[in-house]
Amino acid sequence: MTATGGRVPPGPPRRAALGLLRKLRADRLGLMSGAVSEYGDAVRVAIGPKKLYIFNHPDHAKHVLADNAANYHKGIGYTEAKRALGDGLLTSEGALWEEQRRTIQPVFQHKRIAAQADVIVGEALGLVERLRAHQAARRPVDVLSEITSLTLGVLGSILLAADLGAFESVGHSFEAVQDQAMFEMETLGLVPQWLPLKRQRVFRRARADLDRIVDILVVQRKAYPSESGDDVLTRLIASTAKESDKAVADRRMRDELVTLLLAGHETTASTVGWTLNLVSRHPEVRDRLHEEAVAVYGDRRPTYEDLPRLRYTNMVLQETMRLFPPVWILTRRAVRDDVVGGYHVPAGAEVLICPYTLHRHPRYWADPERFDPERFNPDVPSSRPRYAHIPFGAGPRFCVGNHLGMMEATFIVSTLLRDLRLERLPGLRVKPEPMLSLRLGGGLPMTVHPWAAADRSAA
Ligand code: HEM
Repeated sequence: MTATGGRVPPGPPRRAALGLLRKLRADRLGLMSGAVSEYGDAVRVAIGPKKLYIFNHPDHAKHVLADNAANYHKGIGYTEAKRALGDGLLTSEGALWEEQRRTIQPVFQHKRIAAQADVIVGEALGLVERLRAHQAARRPVDVLSEITSLTLGVLGSILLAADLGAFESVGHSFEAVQDQAMFEMETLGLVPQWLPLKRQRVFRRARADLDRIVDILVVQRKAYPSESGDDVLTRLIASTAKESDKAVADRRMRDELVTLLLAGHETTASTVGWTLNLVSRHPEVRDRLHEEAVAVYGDRRPTYEDLPRLRYTNMVLQETMRLFPPVWILTRRAVRDDVVGGYHVPAGAEVLICPYTLHRHPRYWADPERFDPERFNPDVPSSRPRYAHIPFGAGPRFCVGNHLGMMEATFIVSTLLRDLRLERLPGLRVKPEPMLSLRLGGGLPMTVHPWAAADRSAA
């Protein structure tokens, strides 16, 4: 028993720390899955000075993320990523976070996002055409990389009312900042930033390039207001205008924009990528998705009003995010002592809620490794606790872009599969890479085929 009356969670002995540290770098998913299957819903792991508390029960997730969220700051990983990303909505705390969320949230409201549906549809149809060129040339294409540039472009149009494609270097610079954020996370921020490493030079160059791009976007927006007059860029310009120090205002703007683009594009691309990968292994699901898209859209251009009828597509996306949650881990740091599910959590402890393991908890998911979209059939009542499935997080730090992410993923998957049959390369196994998001290691090379006439008439 401890001072708070809570018990100390079980966990591996201290002497295992070195092996665990190695595993933390080499096999994070294995480390988390192994810990919860060996020790249960609450595990305490001491690695050097860091004490990690892993909680793997829906009630624990509810307590930490929602009910007692005020006692938790963002934790391990986010703190380190901050060295590359600065203080954006994902990593900031307290009054700054509240102000940022107030500024940005209105742009993500359901009806405003709905007004952008056609932008996404246009991009998805453009992707179909690009993929058709690969079909004609009979060469495989990395569908993931195509989707990743699509989701970045969509965010540029929707959030900034800007064409990011006009800046040739943006993808590259963005990638370098993201890579640095991951490096900081992996090395727990222990590598000094002044070391003359090549990666630091690449990172600084990339950040300077993004500064330049943000500067241009701001100057353009001030000169030419956007049609809606209410995109994120316009709102940020207004909210940083009261900042007397221009350098601080510029930095804030850059941090916010880079964070939003980063938080929004890779997560959505990863959802679509994992979906296409899973359904290519389950052709019966892929064919049903195709049939649904044909039944709902016919041959015409998809519209926002079609979305509620894409029920099966939604079930498949939910099941994909159960097995491969793009945000595979949520980390928090306890501000004060707490008791979670009867276990003592000391102030300063690193608390980990891992959607990847929670979504495979055998008490809540029968045969958890099996891909089965029927789990999310809205016509079948379920006694599953709400917090057993949290791909968008929970509580005050719940994903601000969830409607947008779902709308994008739904349109991209259904439009691609209405028009094309995508096959993964024989024998290819995609390995999950748990980085900032749960990446598809090696990308997603696929071959592109038309649907045979018989497939379409069967629909
Ligand atoms: C399917 C796609 C997406 C998934 C699965 C996803 C998942 C998540 C999760 C789990 C969190 C909570 C992180 C935490 O509690 O530590 C989060 C936060 C966030 N997401 Fe998303 N996200 C997606 C799409 C988007 C999009 C399209 C945007 C748009 C820019 C976005 C922007 C953000 C931001 C800014 C936060 C931080 C919110 C805050 O702390 O107040 N996300 N996301």
